[in-house]
Amino acid sequence: RRHLTGIAHLSLPEIHHLLNLAESEIAVSRSRDKKKSALKGRTQINLFFEASTRTQASFELAGKRLGADVMNMSVANSSVKKGETLIDTAMTLNAMQPDILVVRHHAAGAVALLAQKVDCSVVNAGDGAHEHPTQALLDALTIRRRKGQIAGLTVAICGDVLHSRVARSNILLLNALGANVRVVAPSTLLPAGIENMGVTVFHRMDEGLEGADVVMMLRLQRERMEGAFVPSVREYFRHFGLDAQKLGWAKAGALVMHPGPMNRGVEIASGIADGPQSVIEEQVEMGVAVRMAVMEWLAGDGGETA
Ligand code: CP
Repeated sequence: RRHLTGIAHLSLPEIHHLLNLAESEIAVSRSRDKKKSALKGRTQINLFFEASTRTQASFELAGKRLGADVMNMSVANSSVKKGETLIDTAMTLNAMQPDILVVRHHAAGAVALLAQKVDCSVVNAGDGAHEHPTQALLDALTIRRRKGQIAGLTVAICGDVLHSRVARSNILLLNALGANVRVVAPSTLLPAGIENMGVTVFHRMDEGLEGADVVMMLRLQRERMEGAFVPSVREYFRHFGLDAQKLGWAKAGALVMHPGPMNRGVEIASGIADGPQSVIEEQVEMGVAVRMAVMEWLAGDGGETA
């Protein structure tokens, strides 16, 4: 049985296979019928212990477009509120014979742990500050479609890298695909040892964005910060918020990306988020295609890996 717990566990042929399969899924969502039968008869359960708009909605749509029966577990109204553990909750759902369990949890490693316990395929929809593999795949698909290829591109990942599972998965995936990956952030928002992940570190936006083909902004995750370490929004935006002047330091026509949800006026100016270089809505569309590809692959109906 296959799982997708992180980009770290994907081979390069598997990455290319998933991106190519996702490319072919785009047409399904754009067609009038929006239906395939690859997951007909299969049961998918979405189990989100943290809030989500994009990931949960797109996994639900992806499953339905593949013909699966999809159930969204409402954690807020579940026995988790009575103290049931993650594993007990998962084993209870496992006993109902799902084929795919899509899990988001606040603890890094929780999804991989769960994958060892249940009988079905498990997809990581974000675990703490660890990984968010389908976000990285949809980002890569968006870049590849816009720029033709990823190898040789310079991608600047900017902002709150410390708390970002999106950054971590993107660093792994973009490096595997041959991009030059930069991180641009104040040292307080970078994890220790980030240099060892194959990135070049910058602490100033003018230096980090110079010559970048892609500018990927991250949400300032203030809810994960404590007291004195929460930066002032005004200061943060002045130094690290993407506005027209800072975007001017990147290459002409550089792509502006953000995984969402955005804090407008904190890490990105509204005019840039909605501007001509922004591919933020395209990222959302690619999210459905990538999640269809991942689940088709997990179900074993996505063809052999390249
Ligand atoms: N990018 C992302 O994971 O968004 P959600 O938290 O809305 O799912």
